[in-house]
Amino acid sequence: MKVLIATDKPFAKIAVDGIRKEVEAAGFELALLEKYTEKQQLLDAVADADAIIIRSDIIDAEVIAAAKQLKIVVRAGAGYDNVNLDAATKAGVCVMNTPGQNSNAVAELVFGLLVYAVRNFYNGTSGTELKGKKLGIHAYGNVGRNVARIAKGFGMEVYAYDMYCRDEDIKAEGVEPTCSVKTLYQTCDIISVHIPATAETKQSINAELLEMLPSKAIMVNTARKEVIHEADMVKFMESHPDFKYITDILPANHAEMLEKFPNRYFSTPKKMGAQTAEANINAGIAAAQQIIDFIKNGNEKFRVNK
Ligand code: 3PG
Repeated sequence: MKVLIATDKPFAKIAVDGIRKEVEAAGFELALLEKYTEKQQLLDAVADADAIIIRSDIIDAEVIAAAKQLKIVVRAGAGYDNVNLDAATKAGVCVMNTPGQNSNAVAELVFGLLVYAVRNFYNGTSGTELKGKKLGIHAYGNVGRNVARIAKGFGMEVYAYDMYCRDEDIKAEGVEPTCSVKTLYQTCDIISVHIPATAETKQSINAELLEMLPSKAIMVNTARKEVIHEADMVKFMESHPDFKYITDILPANHAEMLEKFPNRYFSTPKKMGAQTAEANINAGIAAAQQIIDFIKNGNEKFRVNK
């Protein structure tokens, strides 16, 4: 049984060592493809793989078709918009994620980005503080919950909107639920985006929603670039010169954003929210264990293509 780790953005070595230990203890073989530059390298590597561990690597119909022995793909992380679920289902391949395993890392980066933004990108001018500001968490999942926990330490007022979460569950964690996403945007000084990229959410952060924000608002996006309507964002930033947008996912129009809004826009060059040793270990080892449990015992607990 061959397990392939296929990661364009590699895990920390300590995580790969941990995955290897799990895989070999189960009597399986581990193969490693890291930092590949051509899709063909991925197509070649998957040819004899029974299981694949990926991150944001694209597993499309062509990759599935090239993986003739494939039984399971585990996305070591939360979002699985990079996997063609229909193609996997048609080929009888199980797809899983590892929810929650990297969420603290992403939440910590939210605050790294926020402090950088409120202190004017460390340019030496007088900035503002996070204490006492209203933070709106757009989608209250595993990352959102960690963001809320850390925000309380900063002394922020924390609000959240999540269409799949009950108000009482949000309230129970000392967070104020809002009745709609528009209310969240109207209420908060800072919005932290945590919605997944789905057919419903793509481009959903558009002019109509951005217009709800108060003056001097900040948006931090550590989720997906696809949820932002980029043309609307440019127009909104042009007409609202006190708004800041900071993101961990390079927008398609990064060059334009950088040129037009050099002091109010920042993107990390490569998504690094989940890029910590701890998150790599948690998500990578969970992925290995889920593969072993699926192959040996048929456990499908974290399956996402039902
Ligand atoms: C996720 O969905 O888990 C995060 O966006 C992290 O993605 P990455 O593993 O590509 O860093």
